[in-house]
Amino acid sequence: MTLLDPSLTKIVLIINLFAVQCLLGVPTDQARIDALLEKMTLAEKVGQMSQYNLGSQDRDVSESDVRNGMVGSFLNAGDRESKQRLQQIAVDESRLGIPLIFGRDVIHGYRTIFPIPLAQSASWNPELVKAAAAVAAREAAQMGIHWTFSPMLDISRDPRWGRIAESPGEDPYLGTLMAKAMVEGYQGNNLDDPNTIAACAKHYVGYGAAEGGRDYNTTWIPEQYLRNVYLRPFKAAVEAGVATVMTGFNDLNGIPASANVFTLRQILRDEWKFNGFVVSDWTSMTEMILHGFCVDTADVALKSAIAGVDMEMVSHSYQMYLEQLVNEGAINIKLIDEMVANILGVKIKLGLFENPYPPAEDKQVLLHADHLSTARQLAAESMVLLKNEGQVLPIQPSVKRIAIIGPLADDGDAQIGTWAPDGRGEDAITPLAAFKVIESANLKIEYVAGLEHPRSTSTSGFRKAVKAVKKADLAFVFVGEDELLSGEAHNRAFLSLPGAQAELIAEIIKTKTPIVLVIMAGRPLTITEYISECEGVIYAWHPGTMGGPALVDLVTGKSQFTARLPVVLPRTVGQIPLYYAHMNTGRPATKDMLGIPQGTPQDPIAYLSYYLDADYTPLFDFGFGLTYSTFEYSKLELSSREMKSGETLTASCTLQNTGNSKAIETAQLYIRDRFGSLTRPVKELIGYQRIELNPGESTRVVFELSESDLAYWKQDLGFGAEAGEFHLMVGSSANDDDLLLSKFNLVTE
Ligand code: BGC
Repeated sequence: MTLLDPSLTKIVLIINLFAVQCLLGVPTDQARIDALLEKMTLAEKVGQMSQYNLGSQDRDVSESDVRNGMVGSFLNAGDRESKQRLQQIAVDESRLGIPLIFGRDVIHGYRTIFPIPLAQSASWNPELVKAAAAVAAREAAQMGIHWTFSPMLDISRDPRWGRIAESPGEDPYLGTLMAKAMVEGYQGNNLDDPNTIAACAKHYVGYGAAEGGRDYNTTWIPEQYLRNVYLRPFKAAVEAGVATVMTGFNDLNGIPASANVFTLRQILRDEWKFNGFVVSDWTSMTEMILHGFCVDTADVALKSAIAGVDMEMVSHSYQMYLEQLVNEGAINIKLIDEMVANILGVKIKLGLFENPYPPAEDKQVLLHADHLSTARQLAAESMVLLKNEGQVLPIQPSVKRIAIIGPLADDGDAQIGTWAPDGRGEDAITPLAAFKVIESANLKIEYVAGLEHPRSTSTSGFRKAVKAVKKADLAFVFVGEDELLSGEAHNRAFLSLPGAQAELIAEIIKTKTPIVLVIMAGRPLTITEYISECEGVIYAWHPGTMGGPALVDLVTGKSQFTARLPVVLPRTVGQIPLYYAHMNTGRPATKDMLGIPQGTPQDPIAYLSYYLDADYTPLFDFGFGLTYSTFEYSKLELSSREMKSGETLTASCTLQNTGNSKAIETAQLYIRDRFGSLTRPVKELIGYQRIELNPGESTRVVFELSESDLAYWKQDLGFGAEAGEFHLMVGSSANDDDLLLSKFNLVTE
């Protein structure tokens, strides 16, 4: 017997399946699409390409429009019954019975809310992120949702931008891992499984680079930079089989994303062979008139169709003008057929023709105990421990009285965070509620909000808060942003704590009671001035439904801190944009330029790239996060000083748990391409491993590298690695002080 190569076996199986289908007369997807296209009128084709928002924010759409085949999809189509009714009209009462596809923003959970996506990225745990997406899919599918507008994959290096909360953070490598995890989580192995939903990679592309962090703003991204950074998570999503892609609101290098032939046709379709469908973002198509790119609505329809936007969300230029454009000969009907085929293809894959209705109602699905437990685990794995002086955490047995301060300690809505339209604040178990569970005769918990709301400016509640802290052995002070300060269009020009929260901290610091600062926020905030006086600092983001228990698990030592920053935390807003993978410049700042005194000096201390009035480094670097133990990296060794094309190189180092508790360390691998046809970042993450070690235990951490790990989009726009010197760094964060360094040469032909 000869054994076939696995990929060949797969091809043989597919061919066999095709043959069996033909023999049995089961039509292939393509045959089903062709048969439908044959029967469809042009108006019905345009109907498939039109998506309506049910409710007040769109033009009126009636049941008879559905009956007449004028609607291909709804977003926000109401409860199960409402969707069921609309679907029944589409399936039973429209001429061709083509089912509707219902979309919804299921961004970080449906009813069980997980941490915001930026926080999920902080877990550096794609498997867990995938499990969370699978839970979200199960809950959403139960409610008749077929399609989520997630994952959001906009690399963001500007925390002023409110949508950084929805993003995977600043790093393309981490972004690709999150992209794959979320797509696989939502879509499972089979889109027609009743527990899976179609994913949507958005916002294609470059949206996260909005000027000044102002949402919807202009983006200028040279092609190499676009490919090396912004496109990578999208490519990963396409490789993972994402069913749909959403265009962004932004104008990319002068061409709005919804009419961008280069990104939509050349890259997405021709290079990546994406075979799902493209949807525009909410009115992003007709906004091209305001961009000054399209002269009128007909022009919008023409340019978007040419670029390959298959479905229009909310604005209705297609509905108004596509027929006319085809009849005038401006658009070839073949183009329309292709676009409709893309949409029908996804509907077929979802099994909507066979099972158009939601699964039988099961009241146990939403907020199921298993879902809450995944949410609790992900929340715990997303909270980053930034400071733990004198081992203030985990809470010591000597602590008999804890003061909980700050309105964010007991604010379900803030805990849920942005973009969770089906999440409910009242489902959230807040930190206060979770602390109350561990209250005992030996441990008293006293809560004083101190402020009515995180944005309040009245200091009238301070006295009571200070009194409670004075009586306590330890204070947890919750500060940050409520859910309305991040998300779409919720940009900030100041990244300091809103309201009188900074003053509240200052008053509490005076008590001398040890303080653990817990920051809840949708973005990096500038916390420089508060942290030196606090013993502990935890960055908790908006942690979702189970954020409270997750936090208490961590601070009591029931679970361990493992999270790492997926973005740098700047010292001050004036440093933005600030990210670890920057270029070196010809005049890089030197290490001794830290700690420049307050105030602006008259003369620069050197003609280098730095600030007169602030350090040039971030407050905390990308990849940083403490555990309850300490780790030491040593003896970095390479298998060779040379890597030849086609060969692999092994880098290994010793990692030892030098602390007193079992902990998980995230060992990170960075490279720097020293000389390129384009200048290259000072370091780029290309791998990491999460390793659990007992106190005193040590291990060799081994990374294998190949030429493809060194490849990038070069000056000539070819993709590949360039011969020459590389730095290889292994350690616990992107900060040079946390990294061991070695060097090798890549030798190509
Ligand atoms: C957002 C998208 C979202 C869409 C539908 C838009 O405003 O930019 O991310 O999916 O609305 O709600």
